[in-house]
Amino acid sequence: HRPGGDMNRFYSMQMEEPQNGKVNESFRFVAEVKKDVWRDSREEQSEPTCSLSVRKISYTVSERVGPWWDLPSYRKRWTRQILNDVSFHVDSGQIMGILGNSGSGKTTLLDAISGRIGNQGTLLGEVFVNGRKLKQEQYQDCFSYVLQSDNLLSYLTVEETLTYTAQLALRKHSAEAIKKKVSAVMAELSLSHVAHSVIGGQVFPGISGGERRRVSIASQLLQDPRVILLDEPTTGLDSMTANQIVVLLAELARRNRIVIVTIHQPRSELFRVFNRIAIMSRGELVFCGQTEEMVDFFSQCGYECPEYCNPFDIYVDFTSVDTRSSEREAATFTRMHEITSAYQRSTIYQSMLEKMEQSLQRSDKPAIPFKSKESPSGAAKLGVLLRRTARNLSRDRMGVLMRLSQNLIYGLFVAFFVIHLDLDVTKGAVQDRIGIIYQSIGASPYTGMLNAVALFPALRAISDQESQDGLYTKWQMFLAYIFHILPLSILSVFIFTSFLYWLVIMGMHPEGLRFLCFTAVVLVPHVIGELLTVVLLGVVQDPNMVNTGVALLNIAGIVVGSGFLRGTQQMPQVFQWLSYLTFQKYSCELLIVTEFYDLQFTCNNSTSLPGACVVTHGNQIIEEGYPGALSRYTLDFVLLYAFLPALLLLGIISFKIRDKVVRH
Ligand SMILES: Nc1ncnc2c1ncn2[C@@H]1O[C@H](COP(=O)(O)OP(=O)(O)OP(=O)(O)O)[C@@H](O)[C@H]1O
Ligand SMILES: [Mg+2]
Repeated sequence: HRPGGDMNRFYSMQMEEPQNGKVNESFRFVAEVKKDVWRDSREEQSEPTCSLSVRKISYTVSERVGPWWDLPSYRKRWTRQILNDVSFHVDSGQIMGILGNSGSGKTTLLDAISGRIGNQGTLLGEVFVNGRKLKQEQYQDCFSYVLQSDNLLSYLTVEETLTYTAQLALRKHSAEAIKKKVSAVMAELSLSHVAHSVIGGQVFPGISGGERRRVSIASQLLQDPRVILLDEPTTGLDSMTANQIVVLLAELARRNRIVIVTIHQPRSELFRVFNRIAIMSRGELVFCGQTEEMVDFFSQCGYECPEYCNPFDIYVDFTSVDTRSSEREAATFTRMHEITSAYQRSTIYQSMLEKMEQSLQRSDKPAIPFKSKESPSGAAKLGVLLRRTARNLSRDRMGVLMRLSQNLIYGLFVAFFVIHLDLDVTKGAVQDRIGIIYQSIGASPYTGMLNAVALFPALRAISDQESQDGLYTKWQMFLAYIFHILPLSILSVFIFTSFLYWLVIMGMHPEGLRFLCFTAVVLVPHVIGELLTVVLLGVVQDPNMVNTGVALLNIAGIVVGSGFLRGTQQMPQVFQWLSYLTFQKYSCELLIVTEFYDLQFTCNNSTSLPGACVVTHGNQIIEEGYPGALSRYTLDFVLLYAFLPALLLLGIISFKIRDKVVRH
C-alpha cells in the first residue's frame, strides 16, 4: 500500500485537468473508481467465498400506552413492530446500501444482524454466514460494526489509537507486525497524512469529521473482518467526503468482503458504486436488489424517476409514509404496501430467496470466517488499556492540572478560614481541630466524584462499544480507569495535606509519622468518592443521578459515621450498627486519634466561663467521644483500606451486570 494513495490519486486528478470547468472533478474521480469497482467486483463475484443470509427478521417491542402519571393508560401495553419479516442475501465482494427515511428501522436492522439488539423486545429470525446459522456468541467474532457515533479518545493520535486497538485485538503479532498492519490500514483508508495528528474532541480541535469516521472504520479493519456493517458513515459530512468514504467502502468490499451501509441522501453518482440497494420503510424491506433492477422495478410499478432527479431520493420518497395528516398517511401507507407486495412477487425477490436457499442447502458449506482474534490474556489487555488511558490523560494538561490542584484549592478555603491553630482550649483548640478533620473527611469524596462524573462517561461509551467488538470486557476498562487515576489521586491528596499540615495551619502535630497517617487516611475518602461513582456509573446510565446518589450517600455516611453531629454513643442502636458500614466512622476515629493523642492543651484561666479548662489533654477527647479508638487504631486502618478492594469487587460485579443489560 502506498501511504495516502487514494488521496494522492484524488488530488492528482484535480491537478491534471484544472481547466475543465464543465465536469466536476470529484464526480469524475468517483466515476473512475466506480468503473474499477464494478468491473473487479464482477470478476471476483464469479466465485464468492462468503455469503450473508438474513431470514425473516422481525423485532417487536412492547410499550406502555400512556405516561406514568396517567395510570389507566400506563397499565396498558401495546406491541410495536419495528422490523417486519426482513430477508435478504448478500455475497462477498458486494456493497449494499440501506436507504430509508428516519425511523424506518435501518439501525435496528443492523443491530439485529450483528446480534447487538437490546433485550427490551422480541427478536425472531435467523442470520446465516456461509449457510451456517450463527450462535449468539459468534456474532461479535464475525461482524464488525461501525456505529453512527465515533467513540475515540480525544488526546491520542490516529496512529496511537489504531495501535492500541491492534494490541488489544491481536496477540500473536509482534510489535513490528502490528506497526505494519496499522500502516497498511491507514494507507487503505487514506489516513497516513494525519497519522500523527490528535483525534480531537469537543473542547479542542483535531482531525476532521470525515477523518474521524475513517479512524472508526480503520479500527474495525484491523481485525480483517469479512462482514462490515456501518451505520450512517457519511451523515454530517460534506458530500465530497461522503462520496470518498462510500467509494473506499466499495473498494473494501471488492476485496472479498461484504459491506452493508445505511445511508441518507447518497449522491446519484454512487448509483453504480453500490452493488445492492435496500429500501426500508416502517420496518419493512420495500425493495432489495441490484441498482439497475431498481430502476426497472419502480418503472414497472408505475413510479418513474423523472429526468435529472436523484433516483435514491425519489424512490425513498415513493416508499416513505408521510404522517403529516391522516389522509396522507393512509395514502402513502397503501402505496408503500403496494410496492412491497409487488417486490415480494417479483423475480428479483424470488431469485434472491433461491440463492439463499441454495447457500443454506449446500452440502459443502465453507466455515464461518471469523475476525482475526488471537486476543491477549486478561492481564495483557489490562496493561494495554492502562497505557492507553494514561497516555490520553497525560496529554490533557488542563485536566491533570485541575486534578492536582482541586483538593489544594479547597484546602486553601479551609486554611484561609482557620489561619492558625491554637493550643488554648478557650481559643478553640478542640473545635478547630474537629472542624478540620470534618472538612478533610467530608469534602474529599466530592472532588473524587466530580472527577469521575466528568471523565468516566466518555470512557464508558468507548468500553461499551469495544466490549461489543469483543476486544475486552467492560470491567477491565473499569479497573484500567481506577488504576490510571490512582497516582494522580495520591499526589493530589498529598499536595493538599502537605499544604494544610505543614505550610498553613502551624499547630497540628509536627511529626512526620502523624502527617503520613493523616495523608493516608484522607486519601481513602477521596478515592472512595471516585470509585463509588464509577461503580454506580456501571449500572446507572445517567451521570446526574449518580452524582446525586453519591452526594447523598456521603452526607448520610458523615452524619451516621463521624460522630460529629451526634456522639456515637448517644445514637439509637440501629445507627450505631449502621455506622460500622461507613468509611467515615473509621476515618474520623483515625484522624481524631492521630491529632489528639498525647496532645497537651493550655488554658487561659482568666476566662470567666466555668468549666472552660476541664479538657486539658487530647486523650480525654478520644476517651469521651470515641472510647476504645486508641486500641483500634490498626484495626481501623485495615477496615478503612478494606473498603477499596471491596468497592473494586463491587465494580467488577456492576460492570458484569452492565454487560448483560447494555448492548451498546
Ligand atoms: N428499543 C426500542 N423501543 C422502542 N422503540 C424503538 C426501539 N428501538 C427502535 N425503536 C423505534 O424503531 C424505529 C426505528 O428506529 P431506528 O433507529 O432503527 O431508525 P433509523 O432508520 O435508523 O432512523 P435514523 O435514520 O433516524 O437513524 C424508531 O421509530 C424508533 O423509535
Ligand atoms: Mg439510525
